[in-house]
Amino acid sequence: MNISIILAAGEGTRMKSNIPKVLHNVCGKPILSYIIDASKKANIDKNYVIVGHGGDKVKEKLGEDNIIFKNQPVGKDHPYGTGYAVMQAIDHIEDNSNVIILCGDTPLITDRTVKKLITYHKENQCDGTVLTAILDNPSGYGRIVRDKNNNLLKIVEDKDATDEEKAIREINSGIYCINGKLLKYALGKIDNKNAQGEYYITDVITILKEEGRKIGAYIIDDSKEIHGVNSRVQLAFCEKIMRSRINQRHMLEGVTIIDPENTYIEDGVSIGKDSIIYPGAIITGDTVIGENCVIGQNSRIENCKIENKVEIYSSTIEESIIGDGCIIGPYAHMRPNSILGKNIRLGNFVEVKNSSLGDGTKAAHLAYIGDADIGKNVNIGCGVIFVNYDGNSKSRTLVEDDSFIGSNSNLIAPVAVRQRGYIAAGSTITDEVGEGCLSIARARQVNKDGWVDKKHHKNGK
Ligand code: UD1
Ligand code: CA
Repeated sequence: MNISIILAAGEGTRMKSNIPKVLHNVCGKPILSYIIDASKKANIDKNYVIVGHGGDKVKEKLGEDNIIFKNQPVGKDHPYGTGYAVMQAIDHIEDNSNVIILCGDTPLITDRTVKKLITYHKENQCDGTVLTAILDNPSGYGRIVRDKNNNLLKIVEDKDATDEEKAIREINSGIYCINGKLLKYALGKIDNKNAQGEYYITDVITILKEEGRKIGAYIIDDSKEIHGVNSRVQLAFCEKIMRSRINQRHMLEGVTIIDPENTYIEDGVSIGKDSIIYPGAIITGDTVIGENCVIGQNSRIENCKIENKVEIYSSTIEESIIGDGCIIGPYAHMRPNSILGKNIRLGNFVEVKNSSLGDGTKAAHLAYIGDADIGKNVNIGCGVIFVNYDGNSKSRTLVEDDSFIGSNSNLIAPVAVRQRGYIAAGSTITDEVGEGCLSIARARQVNKDGWVDKKHHKNGK
């Protein structure tokens, strides 16, 4: 049996934040959720997450789906350190299990690496195995000290290291696979007599080694995976790598991304093949985009369902559904709960909110469509406003199929336009427009011949 213990109780002081470190987002998902996902995907039977600082927030955000939280008491009267954190799950460690210890602050770790670590540990019949990495700049990390035969001798923390040890470029990733019985035994022997006054999990490795146990050191293929987040600078670093991984995944699935360095797609997004994404696009949440779509530059799309052959240019689309073949923008804004049928055209400066539009309807320029139910093949002219708010409450407008709303009209809700209703430009509609009826609701034009000359004469010009 394999169990994981994920350490996430630390304070995260260097983040300078009111939010627990492990809840900061990388590509739209909390850091800790990546580690939990990697652990679950590596076929680990039980996942224990050690929480402390901000523990309630962590539990609330991540839910308890196939994870078991353990509380580490925190505060100045309590001990501290990665070893003390692991002790919080000691009652759950079975003698013959493999315990995989993971850090809650390394979002780039993959299930592939966790699986490889377990395989290495088993194939080499190790009692404990440390996942290590070779870094150009190892400062800050614990160093792997090897003996003459190249076997792991001990792990020395940066703060406890001699100058000679500090020059070692092989570092401890903070990820281990250890036999359950031996882990429990060694946890009983560690102390906090070191530069930081902490209980170090790394001492478990040193103790087992000293007692003649077989300790392996498995060097990771891609050292980027073990980068931890301790500061906002490292958060941006991890975000950048995660972003490129996500973009690569989409490109390998048949999506064209013109400039992957400048395209921001969150982890939960799915995109169909032959869609093209232009620079500056920000696609977030649970958005699903179909095939053959074009997402133009600087568009922001959040939690939307977008069907096939949709084109969106420099527009903001939030929590909405867009049917096949719609063309939107540039500079359109779809606010939450808007539903577009097929082949709809929304042009420049059109705002839609909490409304549904039927197939083939058009609003090509400068309109506000709020709280409206609009049928098929309706033409909404330039400058039309659905007046949905009387200062107190919102009301809805109904526009039935094949209607024509002339430019610069106001539809004062609640009001209805029946099928093939036709509203003359510049009308302010307060009463129902009947089926097939023309409504003109504006003052008649008055022409006064010679009026300008008379006015000038009076003024002595
Ligand atoms: C640790 C390792 C170091 C390794 C590095 C890799 C030790 C002593 N050092 O150092 O050798 O190179 O990780 O990133 O283990 N945590 C708790 N409870 C605590 C203290 C920490 O849950 O009381 C958690 C933190 O939330 C974090 C993880 O353990 O997720 C690592 O702690 P951190 O303080 O970041 O350890 P490092 O100093 O980075
Ligand atoms: Ca760390």
